[in-house]
Amino acid sequence: MVHPIHVTRAFMPPIEEYNALVAEVWASGQLTNQGALALRLEAALDHTLGAQGTLLAGNGTIAIQLAIKALGLTGEVITTPYSYAATTTSLIWEGLTPVFADIDPMTFCLDPARIEERITTRTSAILATHVYGIPCDVEAIEAIAHAHRLKVIYDAAHGYGTTYKGRGLATYGDVSTLSFHATKLFHTAEGGAMVAGDPAVREQLKLLRSFGHIGDVHFAAGVNGKNSELHAAMGWRYCLICERSCNGAKSSGSAMRRCCAVPTCRPLLFRRIRNSTMHTSPLCFETVGYVSE
Ligand SMILES: Cc1ncc(COP(=O)(O)O)c(C=O)c1O
Repeated sequence: MVHPIHVTRAFMPPIEEYNALVAEVWASGQLTNQGALALRLEAALDHTLGAQGTLLAGNGTIAIQLAIKALGLTGEVITTPYSYAATTTSLIWEGLTPVFADIDPMTFCLDPARIEERITTRTSAILATHVYGIPCDVEAIEAIAHAHRLKVIYDAAHGYGTTYKGRGLATYGDVSTLSFHATKLFHTAEGGAMVAGDPAVREQLKLLRSFGHIGDVHFAAGVNGKNSELHAAMGWRYCLICERSCNGAKSSGSAMRRCCAVPTCRPLLFRRIRNSTMHTSPLCFETVGYVSE
């Protein structure tokens, strides 16, 4: 009997369960602007991510851009060449210069040993991605940032459900951003979130996410970085069962690794980080050649 292993199919809740939440939205008459479901989801995410004051965002890209603005970054930002395009393009959209430092081939994440050689007087921050949810070397990055007075943003788009040394991965750095795009392990169809330890940074993120105004008073030039009740409904429903889905992802990973144990299909490396729980399972294969037309 063949049991296909789906590696990219998005989770879809039973439609009647989603509809029940949509009925709640209809009853409330509030579709967006931090309605009851968005607030409920933010509280649930605090619990899951081990964070305080998680802020939902419209997507993972705007979350990075809001983080850049909230931290007041200028000039150059040292970042990774191995991530989704949004990591780098967010810097460019915010008028910053991305400066690539190389990655550690064993973790695919920014190699701390290659960061300092890229620091100049114009450097204001480090933007690193926890690629596939594999934790960056957060201690080394923090030490460099501290020594050079740099801010740290982690693109934790793939980091949902990962802990490192008993702490939610999204709690590291000045701001961590997540993507809840439909392709992610946990998703809200489109969506994202920001986690910041400093309450002042959280307030700034919140303000900038809502056009920079509170009521009719404008305090800053913000943007629309919010998400809707319909997206929050998807996330809230999924939150309730995501642990099951995480476990499913773990066993798919084990199954893939078992498949790859056959000699003709052996992954070159698969690195798990000590003291970390991950729900993604990257596998790398040796390139044996290219087929050209
Ligand atoms: C590493 C990384 N950063 C940022 C993003 C952007 O997230 P979103 O698609 O939610 O804007 C993604 C999304 O796919 C991603 O994989």
